[in-house]
Amino acid sequence: MIHETDFLIIGSGMAGLTSALKLAEHGSVAIITKKERAESNTNYAQGGIAAVFDPDDSFENHIRDTLEAGAGLCDEHAVRLIVEKGPELVQELDVIGVHFTRTDKGTFDLGREGGHRSHRIVHVKDHTGRDVEAALLNAVKVSPNINVFENHVAIDLITEHHIIGPTPREPHLHCWGAYALDAENGLVKRFLAKATIISSGGCGQVYLHSTNPKIATGDGVAMCYRAGAAIANMEFMQFHPTTLYHPLADSFLISEAVRGFGGQLLTKSGKAFMDKYHSMGPLAPRDVVARAIDTEMKKSGDPCVYLDITHKDPDQVKNRFPHIYENCYKYKIDITKEPIPVVPAAHYSCGGVVTDLNGATDINGLYACGEVAYTGVHGANRLASNSLLEAVVFARQASLKAIDFVKTRKQRIPNIPPWDDSGTFNSEEWVLISHDLMEIKNLMWDYVGIVRSNLRLERALSRIRLIRQEVENFYRRTRVTEELIELRNLSLLAQLIVTSALLRRESRGLHYTTDYPKLDDQNYKHATVLQQKALQ
Ligand code: SIN
Repeated sequence: MIHETDFLIIGSGMAGLTSALKLAEHGSVAIITKKERAESNTNYAQGGIAAVFDPDDSFENHIRDTLEAGAGLCDEHAVRLIVEKGPELVQELDVIGVHFTRTDKGTFDLGREGGHRSHRIVHVKDHTGRDVEAALLNAVKVSPNINVFENHVAIDLITEHHIIGPTPREPHLHCWGAYALDAENGLVKRFLAKATIISSGGCGQVYLHSTNPKIATGDGVAMCYRAGAAIANMEFMQFHPTTLYHPLADSFLISEAVRGFGGQLLTKSGKAFMDKYHSMGPLAPRDVVARAIDTEMKKSGDPCVYLDITHKDPDQVKNRFPHIYENCYKYKIDITKEPIPVVPAAHYSCGGVVTDLNGATDINGLYACGEVAYTGVHGANRLASNSLLEAVVFARQASLKAIDFVKTRKQRIPNIPPWDDSGTFNSEEWVLISHDLMEIKNLMWDYVGIVRSNLRLERALSRIRLIRQEVENFYRRTRVTEELIELRNLSLLAQLIVTSALLRRESRGLHYTTDYPKLDDQNYKHATVLQQKALQ
């Protein structure tokens, strides 16, 4: 089956939906999304959107905090772009129906999170992402030019390699859409488009413990890498310092805004420890806090540390953090009366598909925005609540560029063959998938976590290579399913992350290795870029 459209968007989080609304003014748009349309990393974002509204704050201050968190690897132009557009975009979201929390005076209630020296987090209590996603979906619903395909899993991008007949002579590859599995009936469809936007989110599921939903399996980075786009900085995986430690809680996020509200990090014996590690105490940048918690846990042998907000007025706490309060209460933890047991978990990929300031990748007609992209904004460590801001700004940039590309190129979509699954069969060995998946997650957690070493990384690499080879062999013989597509992508993501980590022989931002504990500006003050065939 073929779906032909002007613009194809892969992923339905904030970046994808923002792009869709812009592109729909200029042509037909198809969005493919793995589950229901609202299931995305955006939906789980508790914190908010960093933007300058406080009269005592300034663009320069926001830029400085972002660059500092990024530990020398941010692209200052990209940072300036998002920071300066921030207030205008927040106002636009306000207009489309996001009811940001306001003070009694009617101004935005500005929260504070790690690494920010000012109050600048615009939020909807502690469920900002959910409300932003809902407002964008409402706008998408009434647009006649947008079609949303739920339960469709993108398998691979379509480029020149797939064309039947003569291929256009161009120095660069061109993307013509993607093959995608309709998970409801097992059919693989061709989604053909003049321009494609990848906004498929992150890859937190490559780790055993992650704040990300099950869909975050790095599909976008994997597809782009296989298609030939450059990938950068995959070693910089951000671990969120505070997720609920409870056997049933599945790494439930406890927002950094709790610390911004006065929360203190304590050891089991009740001792505050963050002042030992950074002058900003519990509001130090995330890499510092996550490493400090890791150190304290290793020193004490305790399985978690504690986040204490019991000294604050209980009604204020419940009003500011209703979602966190209710969720913890479900596990019989009353956060107004007792400290919350917390541990770090994989949270956000600062690396991704390399784009320029217009969201364009090095493949013609292919754009990337949101967590899947490496735009240069986050450098070696993302500043809290800069991600929704980056997603919306770069979704705009990418859409404008894609519109211009389609208008000026006026290219016809070439003849693309249907998906070829001849010689494949329905496997009876699905146990291999769950086994390989758990092996990757455990390896990544144990060997490629907050603190790394050559020995651990090399061990991880040799095992992951083997798993990946087995997965690729299984993939070639087997009719595709969602689980198999995800496993194939996750095994590739694991190899990209470990390879990048081994290439960076220094410690910077989120990448800390005991073999090279110091920053090495002379040799490593640049992104780790992996081109196709970089993996062995
Ligand atoms: C949080 O609320 O702590 C998460 C926000 C973010 O990751 O930026």
